[in-house]
Amino acid sequence: MASTLFRHPTSRLPETDLAARLGRMDSDFRGKTVIITGGSQGVGAAAARKFAAAGANLLLVARGKANLERIAEELRPNGSVRIVAMDVADHSACVDLFKVAQQEFDNIHVLVNNAGHHERGLVENVDPVELGRMIDVNLRAPLILCRLAIPHLRKAGGGAIINVASLAGRTPVAGAASYSASKFGLRAFTFALGEELAGSGIKLAAVSPGPIDTGFIMSNIDAVADITFSQPLSTADEVAQAIMDLALNDKRERSLPPVSGFLTTMSYLFPRLGHLLRPALVRKGRKTKQRIKAQLRAQAKDRTA
Ligand SMILES: NC(=O)c1ccc[n+]([C@@H]2O[C@H](COP(=O)([O-])OP(=O)(O)OC[C@H]3O[C@@H](n4cnc5c(N)ncnc54)[C@H](OP(=O)(O)O)[C@@H]3O)[C@@H](O)[C@H]2O)c1
Repeated sequence: MASTLFRHPTSRLPETDLAARLGRMDSDFRGKTVIITGGSQGVGAAAARKFAAAGANLLLVARGKANLERIAEELRPNGSVRIVAMDVADHSACVDLFKVAQQEFDNIHVLVNNAGHHERGLVENVDPVELGRMIDVNLRAPLILCRLAIPHLRKAGGGAIINVASLAGRTPVAGAASYSASKFGLRAFTFALGEELAGSGIKLAAVSPGPIDTGFIMSNIDAVADITFSQPLSTADEVAQAIMDLALNDKRERSLPPVSGFLTTMSYLFPRLGHLLRPALVRKGRKTKQRIKAQLRAQAKDRTA
C-alpha cells in the first residue's frame, strides 16, 4: 500500500501507452531516428554506439566538429549518421536542427537531451554569465528541443524523449548551485511534460546519474567537489544503457547507481540527515579522489613513456 501511496501517478505510464509504444518500437531500432545532443563524447557517444548497434539512424549534435566526425566515421558502417556542429544554447540553431532532421530522415523517434555544462564553484566566485549559461545549456535548450521535437514524434506515431539530468537534480549541491538548479528544473520539466503528453504515445523520462567516468569530471578533477567522489563512479556505457532502456520501458526516471539515488532522495527529504552525513561523505570522497588522481597521473606517465 505504502509503495502505491508514495509512487508518483506518472512514475509508470499507463499500460495502453506502453503497449502502443512498444508495438511500434522494440529494441530493434532499424528504421528509427535518434537525435543525441552532446553525442561526440562521453555519455552521448556511448549512447550513439548503443543505438547504432541496434540499427538506428543517428543525428549527433555537439559544438566541436572534429569529435563529431570521428564518431560518425566509426558508426557509419552500422547505418546513417548525420552530424550537426552547433551550440544547443543557440535558439535558431535548434530550429535549424529539426529542419535538417526532416530533410535527412522521414521521421524522428527519439530525442536524447544529453549536452551539459558545469562551471564549478561557489556562486559568489562564478562569473554571472557562466551561471546563466548552465541554465541555458542544461535547462533552456532541452526545453526548447523537446518543444520542437513533439510534432515530429507525433508524426512518427510516438516515440521517446530522454533527458539527462543528475543526482544534483535530486538533492541541492553546494558548490554547484546553478548546475543543481538546472538539473532540478530539467527533471521537473520532464515529469510535467510527461503528464501533458500522457496518452499521446510520446514517453518522457529522465536519467539521473551520480559521478560518471568521463571528461566532464575527469578533465578538471581538481575543481570537482570532494563529496562527488563519495558515490560510486558509473561508466558512460552504463548511463547509455539506462538511456536506451528508458526509451523502451515504462519508467519515468532512472538513478545511477541506485544506492546513490536512494541516498540523495533521503538527504533531500531529510536535510538534517544530509548535513549529518556530509563530513563522512566528504572524507570518503577526498580519499577516492586522491586515488583516482594517482591513477590518472600513472596513465599520463604511461602514455608519455
Ligand atoms: N560526468 C558526470 O560526472 C556527470 C554526472 C551527472 C550528470 N552528467 C550529465 O551527463 C551529460 C553528459 O555528460 P558527459 O559526462 O558525457 O560529458 P562530456 O564527456 O564532457 O560530454 C559532453 C558532450 O556535450 C557536448 N556539449 C557540451 N556543451 C554543449 C553545447 N553548449 N552545445 C552542444 N553540445 C555541447 C560536448 O561536445 P562539445 O564540447 O564539442 O560541444 C560533448 O559531446 C551532461 O548533461 C551532464 O550534465 C554528467
